[in-house]
Parts: sequence; C-alpha cells; structure tokens
Amino acid sequence: MNVLVTGGAGYIGSHTCLELLERGYGVVVIDNLCNSNPKSLDRVRELTGKDLVFYEGDVRDETLLRRIFAENDIGCVIHFAGLKAVGESVAMPWEYYDNNLNSTLVLTKVMKAVGMKRIIFSSSATVYTADNEMPLRETSRTGGCTNPYGWTKYMTEQILSGMAYADGDWSIALLRYFNPIGAHESGRIGEDPRGIPNNLMPYITQVAVGRREFLSVYGNDYDTHDGTGVRDYIHVVDLAKGHVAAVEYVDSHQGCEVFNLGTGVGYSVLDMVHAFNEANGLELPYRIVARRPGDIATCYADPAKSREVLGWTAEKTLQDMCRDSWRWQSTNPNGYGE
Ligand code: NAD
Ligand code: UFG
Repeated sequence: MNVLVTGGAGYIGSHTCLELLERGYGVVVIDNLCNSNPKSLDRVRELTGKDLVFYEGDVRDETLLRRIFAENDIGCVIHFAGLKAVGESVAMPWEYYDNNLNSTLVLTKVMKAVGMKRIIFSSSATVYTADNEMPLRETSRTGGCTNPYGWTKYMTEQILSGMAYADGDWSIALLRYFNPIGAHESGRIGEDPRGIPNNLMPYITQVAVGRREFLSVYGNDYDTHDGTGVRDYIHVVDLAKGHVAAVEYVDSHQGCEVFNLGTGVGYSVLDMVHAFNEANGLELPYRIVARRPGDIATCYADPAKSREVLGWTAEKTLQDMCRDSWRWQSTNPNGYGE
C-alpha cells in the first residue's frame, strides 16, 4: 500500500517515512519545506536503501493534491503538515488557522472526491484542559486551549470526527502526541528547529554543542517532586512506529478513534538534564529562571488504549532518547544546514 505523508520532510514525518519504508509500504510525501529541509528525505532514502516520491508543494493546493492522487495509488494518508510553534501562533493567529485548518479541509475534500477515506491526524496533548487529573485518558476533558495552535488541533479533531459521524465510510485515527524527543539511532535524521528552540530537548542539545550558553529552567516552584515541570517524553522512533500501527488500524476499521501516544511516565526538567548528562558524559550548564507563561506543572498520558487497541507500546528508554538526541546534534551541529 502507498501512504501519502503530508509534512513528511519534517521531524516526526521523516522518522515515520523511514519506518513505513522498512515495513514495506510505498511512501509519497508532500511538503512545502516551510519548516524543513529536503535533505531529511535523502537521508531516509540512504538509510533504508529505498526510494520515495516527493512533491514540493502546499497541502492547501487542491490542484496539486488531485494530481498526486491521480499519479499514485494512495491507500492511506498521514497528515503531519502544519505550523506548530505555540508562541508564534499567538502572534500570527490567522496564519495558523489558515495553514492548519485549510490544509485539512482541502486534503479531505480531495480524499472524498477520489473515494479514499483513511486518514491519521497529528493531534497533541495540548487539546486536554489544564484541570484534568493525571494520567490523561482519551476521555479526559478537552478544549479551553490557551493559544491558536492548540485550537487548530482541537478544531481539526472536531472537523474529522464530525465527518466520520456523518459518513460511515471514513476511517480516522486522531493521535495525541505527548513530548516527542530523540532521533533515529543512526544520527542521520533528527529535529532541526529554525531559530531559537522553544522545546526543551533541542535547547539542551544546542547548549551542549555550544550554540547557546546555558539552559533556562522555567521555574522550580511547581508542585512536582523537584519543583520543575513534568512531561511525558517519547522517543520519536516509538512515535513513528505508533503511526505504522495506526495505518494498520485504519485499514481494517471504520469510524473515528482517538489515541494517546505517550509512555505513561513523567520526567521533570531536572530529571532530563541529569539523564542527558549521564547518558552522554556531559555537564550541561543551566539556570533556574521564572516560569514560562502558559506552562502547566505536570502532563503525562495513560497509553493503555493504544496498547490494547493498536497493539503499540513505547519501548525506548529515557537513556535512548538522550543518547540519540545528542548523537544527531553532535554529528550535525547545524542540523541539515551546512
Ligand atoms: P515539523 O515542522 O518538523 O514538520 C511539519 C512539516 O510540515 C514541515 O516539514 C513543514 O515544512 C510542513 N508543512 C507545514 N505546513 C505545510 C503546508 N501547508 N503544506 C505542506 N507542508 C507543510 O513538525 P513536527 O514536529 O514533525 O510535527 C508534525 C506534526 O505533529 C505537526 O502537525 C505538529 O503540530 C504535530 N505535533 C508535534 C509535536 C511536537 O512536539 N513535535 C507535538 C504534538 C503534535
Ligand atoms: N522548558 C524549560 N526550558 C526550556 C524549554 C522548556 O525549562 O528552554 C520546560 C518547560 O517549562 C516544560 C518542559 O520543559 O516544563 C517541556 O517544555 P516543552 O516546550 O519542550 O514542551 P511543552 O510540554 O511545553 O509543549 C510541547 C509542545 C506543544 C504540545 C505539548 C503537548 O511544544 O506544542 O508539548 O504535546 F502541545
């Protein structure tokens, strides 16, 4: 089966393309490269020894999408393409609603027209309200998002589940990711953020490689075991394998199902610093600074439904995540750039 991967040149997309190729799927990518480098796809080809089809273009381009479906026998879509920076979304709400909502609307319009109704969507733990008990289950409360990025994920879930309710031919998996980190163990593909990283692990690795002076730890007065924020970090290769399991699931089920993709274990910011130091024999400089507005104390998943229904469980350890993040950054200090 051929899988159309939107945003396939990006961080999670490139790792998923690799896992799909290794499992024998054909891969067709559409990406406008607004936050990625096509070298990621060359490296996926190099690592797997297999080819994939790449279209450089925008998912909102209906003519291009129709051409892609006409030229390739697509059996499933994984929809990663979207803008993802929380702070930027507050400054540029229109661009986020336009990109993230219109890409889904145009994509599903073309899918309806060609009669191929299997789609896997990249959602986020950000759709859960801040007042939930931990761990978060798929049935925990959602909504009340604090930024346009989060609303685009929430609204896209509403759009897709409404479509499945109205038309029983749709088969949809909404995957709520927790905190993806790490890189392929080869160190050849990984996360390559533009500008100053917003997320913890790319910031840590950029400090370690000498691109930034020290890590700012955003607050040590949360109600957690050491006062710093606790998150459910998941290795990107485990996450990619979760998508392969979801492709198999949507191929054999109809309707719309939500799945948490996390490990079920939370680590604090200082746990991460210590694990990174220990895994790599480094001593990362850090300073405790004020809390970051909008952050919550603790967020971790209950991954039981994914285990029971998808047959998927995260297998890699925190040490694997720290070691692989560093292998990628240390051998590619400027990411895919020269
Ligand atoms: P990424 O930015 O590395 O990948 C997204 C890719 O989509 C990029 O290659 C970008 O060029 C492309 N793209 C964006 N808009 C496009 C458009 N209109 N047409 C074609 N291509 C377009 O991000 P990622 O970390 O790989 O995230 C993938 C998806 O997972 C996103 O939807 C993101 O919101 C979601 N997600 C990510 C995280 C995370 O922490 N990384 C957490 C939860 C959810
Ligand atoms: N942190 C620091 N210093 C930094 C960066 C982060 O101390 O330089 C702390 C944060 O305060 C938080 C933890 O590290 O306690 C993790 O922060 P991230 O920014 O890496 O991740 P978040 O959990 O805040 O958010 C991420 C994505 C969101 C997504 C959410 C849930 O950025 O888009 O996970 O999936 F919605």
